[in-house]
Amino acid sequence: MDRRTFVKMAGITAGAVAFGTGLSRLVPNAAAGSHWGSGSETVPFQVPLPLPQVLTPVSTDSTTDYYQITMHEAQVQILPGLNTTIWGYNGFYPGPTIKAKSGRRVVVTQINNLPESTSVHLHGGHTPSASDGLPTDLIAPGGSKVYTYPNNQTAATLWYHDHAMDVTGPHVYRGLAGFYILQDDVELGLNLPSGNYDIPMVIQDRTFNADGSLYYPAVTGSVLKDGFLGDKVLVNGAIQPYFQVASRKYRFRILNGSNTRDYELALSSGGGSYGSGPSFIQIGTDGGLIPAPVARSTIPIAPGERVEVVIDFSPYAIGTQLVLKDNKGYNGIGDIMRFDVVRTETDTSSVPATLRPLPTLPAATVTRDIKLEFDRNKNQWVLNGKPFDPARIDAFPRIGSTEIWRFSNRSGMMHPMHIHDMEFQIVDMDGRSPGPGEVGWKDTVAVPSWGSVSMKVQFLDNTGIYVFHCHKLEHEDHAMMGQFQVVQ
Ligand code: C2O
Ligand code: CU
Ligand code: CU
Repeated sequence: MDRRTFVKMAGITAGAVAFGTGLSRLVPNAAAGSHWGSGSETVPFQVPLPLPQVLTPVSTDSTTDYYQITMHEAQVQILPGLNTTIWGYNGFYPGPTIKAKSGRRVVVTQINNLPESTSVHLHGGHTPSASDGLPTDLIAPGGSKVYTYPNNQTAATLWYHDHAMDVTGPHVYRGLAGFYILQDDVELGLNLPSGNYDIPMVIQDRTFNADGSLYYPAVTGSVLKDGFLGDKVLVNGAIQPYFQVASRKYRFRILNGSNTRDYELALSSGGGSYGSGPSFIQIGTDGGLIPAPVARSTIPIAPGERVEVVIDFSPYAIGTQLVLKDNKGYNGIGDIMRFDVVRTETDTSSVPATLRPLPTLPAATVTRDIKLEFDRNKNQWVLNGKPFDPARIDAFPRIGSTEIWRFSNRSGMMHPMHIHDMEFQIVDMDGRSPGPGEVGWKDTVAVPSWGSVSMKVQFLDNTGIYVFHCHKLEHEDHAMMGQFQVVQ
């Protein structure tokens, strides 16, 4: 029987099935076990890669750009011939891109026209606590909040996304995420590919119901433990798109904006086999440029992480098609998108041998151990045995101090651990030094199953309360999050 018949027999009507407060707009997929979503397999490489529009400030003055964003529901077409209801910043999925400049303030008024409370977090930002988007610092439906971002930090690919307590997973899944690209003069002076050759790409997985609506499960049982994996992969909101390129260098700012899925990026020669030799020139990580470019043939990327690469298409003949692959390919996802080399162009950009030096941090004065584990009795994820409690502060680092944070994973799956407000430098990964692509400013790091990662964190910018958490959003919501307060 086909999927539509099955849905009919199971008595599922779009929008009719609610499963718990706040989730009524997401309809359970009657055939979720089979994970075919829309009822048939979608054909890859049918739609061009969408590029999120760049947001225009509503006003500017000598120090500040002011923006206004309204969060609201919208209908978009993701599957051919079907509408999908999303929750979007200004109704877009992904949200509009904010472009900012180091040292110049950005003020964003966020208006919530959604039926649930939201909180907006700038991931990677050194942000005063009051504007950081704490999970309980909510904007009620019909309300608004002004967020101030000082941008006292160097160029990096940041992103903004929802952070409401317990429902970050479903909120981001419905579409509440967008890019925030911070530039500075050092980076702009490097002659890297820029303008139309500097492309942000957010990779996310989703599952759709037969009517085109988004499917998101009730987060219990194995979903709570393992997180949720969609059965379609989208880049900038389109399923397995293609992108027409010239035979020259491009810079790609790649964000893993998936709820739980981690990828190992690789580039094919187009014939189904992975190309030999390095495909990517990595130039950046979460916190911007790394000290020197690194040639890599595969790059792992966990939820919340960013990686910046240059791909040089100049060796390829016009007509060449290169597939961006995921070597992990959990439940059948293998091809992410395709690059089609369609024209020649002269290229005056370059990738310099040194990019941005990485400062050496002072010796740490405090070491904190954080154990990551699943509490079978309470049926939730915990940090050092405790679930998230907005009334509890787990650590009080001193402003100006440097600490070692050591995450020890006592579970059989990877957890991408993220710290707000600070960037850190990895010191040790399972007993080895960080590899060339892992040296740089990070804010999220994959802690391997049964493994450990230590990092040096310098608490420089702000006093106040911040959170740290697993960036698998089902884990974060079910309660793998703690709080620290930076004190004088
Ligand atoms: Cu991108 Cu607290 O998260
Ligand atoms: Cu963050
Ligand atoms: Cu986790």
